[in-house]
This record gives sequence, structure tokens and C-alpha cells, in this order.
Amino acid sequence: MRVVVLRIGHRPERDKRITTHVGLVARAFGASEMLLTGRDAHIEESLADAARRWGGSFTLHSGVSWKGEVMRWKEAGGAVVHLTMYGTNLPDVIDEISHCERDLLVAVGAEKVPAEMYQLADWNVAVGNQPHSEVAALAVFLDRLFLGRELEEDFAGGLKIVPSARSKKVLYPEHPNDSNYPGGKGSEEIGP
Ligand SMILES: C[S@@+](CC[C@H](N)C(=O)[O-])C[C@H]1O[C@@H](n2cnc3c(N)ncnc32)[C@H](O)[C@@H]1O
Repeated sequence: MRVVVLRIGHRPERDKRITTHVGLVARAFGASEMLLTGRDAHIEESLADAARRWGGSFTLHSGVSWKGEVMRWKEAGGAVVHLTMYGTNLPDVIDEISHCERDLLVAVGAEKVPAEMYQLADWNVAVGNQPHSEVAALAVFLDRLFLGRELEEDFAGGLKIVPSARSKKVLYPEHPNDSNYPGGKGSEEIGP
């Protein structure tokens, strides 16, 4: 199942950090792409940099029309999930979504999401019916959808963290001689 995140209503003057976090969560929790309404060079650069350094094939497409993307997605046979505190609570609908066998477009808002989105979505889903954040809602939704397996995904071609209980250890397998990578010698160990 391919999952793409649609970020609706990004306001460049207010949402840079949170939209960047939506993109980082999308990438780290198993989505393959983020679509962003509006353009923001800062976000394009931050997410491209994360993908360059940390590997994998996550991409960002900005300047899209949310409605155009939703219509195109549905015409291609995909399903649309809109995350909103007003929706059906996640535990009551996650099995149905997981078994739908269609690619998923997962929409998250910033401020006010156009009323039409609620009609166009196949599911309006609440991650608990309390207000919180698009970053938290997206992370919990993707983790339930992928049953935690996304946390073991290998992001090819990037830096690798060697999990450690007490120190920081990073491997630089693809760039052993690149002086832009700290250490420039294949690995770096930072003690406590
Ligand atoms: C600042 S919140 C606005 C809250 C909004 N009135 C709503 O419909 O959820 C921005 C975004 O966070 C997400 N969000 C916030 N709380 C949520 C919840 N409990 N369940 C699902 N999504 C949530 C939604 O995607 C929302 O558009």
C-alpha cells in the first residue's frame, strides 16, 4: 500500500517548522511522498537535505492544488483519509482502512480545512476526539496503519545510526571519503 501525505493550508510565515516536521514524520513513518499546497523554499530545502543525508526515496512536491490532487488520487483508484479531531475515532476505523487494499492519500490541515475536504474524504479520522497537532496525528495514524513495522525500515544510501543505549554512533557507508561528513572515515563515535 503506497501512502502519500497531503499537507493542506501551509502558511509560510507561521508554519515552516511544523510543516517541516509533518514532512519528516511522513518520511520516517513510512509515507513515500508529501504534497504541499503552496510553495516554501525553506521546507523544500530542509526535506531535500534530510533525504540526501539520511537516505531513502522520499520526495516532496509543492505548489499543488489540494482539490486537484484529491480528485486525481480518487480517479486513479486511491482512497483518501482526512485526519481531523471531528472524525471517526481511529480505533473504530483503522481495520477497515488497513484492509481497503488501495493506495492512501492522508490529508492533514494547518488552520481551517475547507469544508469540501470532509465530503471528498473516504474517511474523516480522529486520533482521539481532542485537539492536538497534525504532527502527532500523522505519526500515530501511520504507526497504527503500518503496525510499527515502519520503524524497522532501512533507508538506503544514507547515514546509519547504530542503536546504542549510552552513546551516539553513526556510520557513513556511502560517503567514506567525503569531508562534508563528520569524521570522513566511515564512522563516528561520540561517547557519553
Ligand atoms: C491546529 S490543528 C486544527 C484542529 C482542527 N480544527 C481539526 O479539524 O482537527 C491542525 C491539524 O491537526 C490535525 N489534528 C489535530 N488534532 C487532531 C486529532 N485529534 N485527530 C486527527 N487530526 C488532528 C488535523 O489534520 C488538523 O487539520
